[in-house]
Amino acid sequence: MKQPRRLLLLVAAAARAVTGAAAATDPLLETAIAGGQEYVNLDIRFGPDVYRIPVGVNATCEEKRRHLQGVMPEGMLGQGCTNRACAALVTLAELLPSCAAYCEAAMGDAKLERTSTVEPGALWRGSPGGAVTSLKGQRFEAVARAFLGAHGYASAGGAAEPLAKLFEEQNRFDPKYADLGEVVLYELAHAEARVRPPTAWFDDLRAVGWHRMPGADRLSLFPESRVAQARRALEAVTGHVRFNFLGGRGTDASTRLARGWVERFALAHFRADDVLVFTDSWQAHAPLGPFDRTLDAAQPKWNPKLANNVSFIRDAMTSPARDEWVAHLMFLGRGRPPPPSAFRDVAADQLMRVDASYVATLCSSGATLAPAGDNAWSRRFYEAILCCSVPVVQRSEHAGRTDADLELGYRYHVYDPAKPASAYGYERDWATRNWHLFANHSTLLSPASVEGFECPERTFSSVPV
Ligand SMILES: *[C@@H]1O[C@H](CO)[C@@H](O)[C@H](O)[C@H]1NC(C)=O
Ligand SMILES: *[C@@H]1O[C@H](CO)[C@@H](O)[C@H](O)[C@H]1NC(C)=O
Ligand SMILES: *[C@@H]1O[C@H](CO)[C@@H](O)[C@H](O)[C@H]1NC(C)=O
Repeated sequence: MKQPRRLLLLVAAAARAVTGAAAATDPLLETAIAGGQEYVNLDIRFGPDVYRIPVGVNATCEEKRRHLQGVMPEGMLGQGCTNRACAALVTLAELLPSCAAYCEAAMGDAKLERTSTVEPGALWRGSPGGAVTSLKGQRFEAVARAFLGAHGYASAGGAAEPLAKLFEEQNRFDPKYADLGEVVLYELAHAEARVRPPTAWFDDLRAVGWHRMPGADRLSLFPESRVAQARRALEAVTGHVRFNFLGGRGTDASTRLARGWVERFALAHFRADDVLVFTDSWQAHAPLGPFDRTLDAAQPKWNPKLANNVSFIRDAMTSPARDEWVAHLMFLGRGRPPPPSAFRDVAADQLMRVDASYVATLCSSGATLAPAGDNAWSRRFYEAILCCSVPVVQRSEHAGRTDADLELGYRYHVYDPAKPASAYGYERDWATRNWHLFANHSTLLSPASVEGFECPERTFSSVPV
């Protein structure tokens, strides 16, 4: 759930497929080559303007993308993109379908990039200003060194530390809309942890306040009720499936590219009893196989991004009910449960709702595909772990929201098109260890309440492929 971005509208080609699977014809390119042209013009409409960007007809997709990325007007983002690398890939995939497969593969990397602006003088008197691009998983210190190096300061020395702090603060800028889900989960987790609120809770309260984003360097936090919901679902499981994916295929172009591998994974490895449900754009969906329940009317298609539109989120976040809820939390003492709250109900039932059948499916699956979305991670990664299901990600950097999550030691499968289905098996010891890592670090549950928990044995039916 993020703030709305300006839409990037593409004029030129009526290119549809961005899955890379069958897309091969490039009317624009073919016409240019047939006409003996050296360049093909890519026309991109942005607001009232149309930008014509010529790219070499025989340039590789990588070269075309680098060129686009270099000349696209600053700020021409959209389609779920927060950097130019992503925007260039979305544009290229849409205009030149022969590059779609390349763009899809490159999107996993592009999602990791983040550009921050440093104001002149922000670090010390007379310090340089400028943009710095960092990668998820890269430590702040390395980013600071890169920035200072680029500005002629060979050795970062003591300057790296304030820069790191600055980035962290910038990350928290306008946090209400930066990642509402994280903020609300964080609040719900604390509200439920009335028995033993950690010291850090009170530190946060003093330092940043309740309505501030838990930092990008901090572990994600989930409320106790999520753990309870998953444990109930685990107990109710009657049969196991190997794989599932329930989620959006692409509410925007960058998510469509980031999730292209899900479709290929399902086509290659899902069997009839595995479960695939796309919870958006399903009206026009052509089922991929017997495992694809997208068109099954009985299949719930709760999609938080579609269900929670921007005006709804804004209204909820600026409502008097939310102010009241935040005020409750501020004065919530050790051992005192928060009083009833209209905002809390909206948060639990709508903003942060998790469908019972979604949880049931994850909890009965050996492995859960957890692709990146408009960000380089998705909450599904944690939901799978809570359900003792082993996550499958496209890249190891997609295995969690923050750098701290990445370093915790979760075990998961990384997608590799060359691997057989058997490479993505249910590893019970991984699942149990993941579950405890999560409980220890991403919840406020007491150690005693989770002691001895073991993920279940799973047996899979031998349905023929
Ligand atoms: C592009 O490649 C085609 C086929 O190899 C060739 O005929 C054409 O002259 C090349 N065009 C340019 C501008 O290099
Ligand atoms: C936004 O979502 C709310 C709540 O789900 C709904 O009542 C409203 O009609 C939606 N508005 C738009 C413009 O879709
Ligand atoms: C979780 O915490 C408990 C209690 O501190 C500890 O015994 C256990 O080893 C931890 N588990 C993991 C996977 O970190």
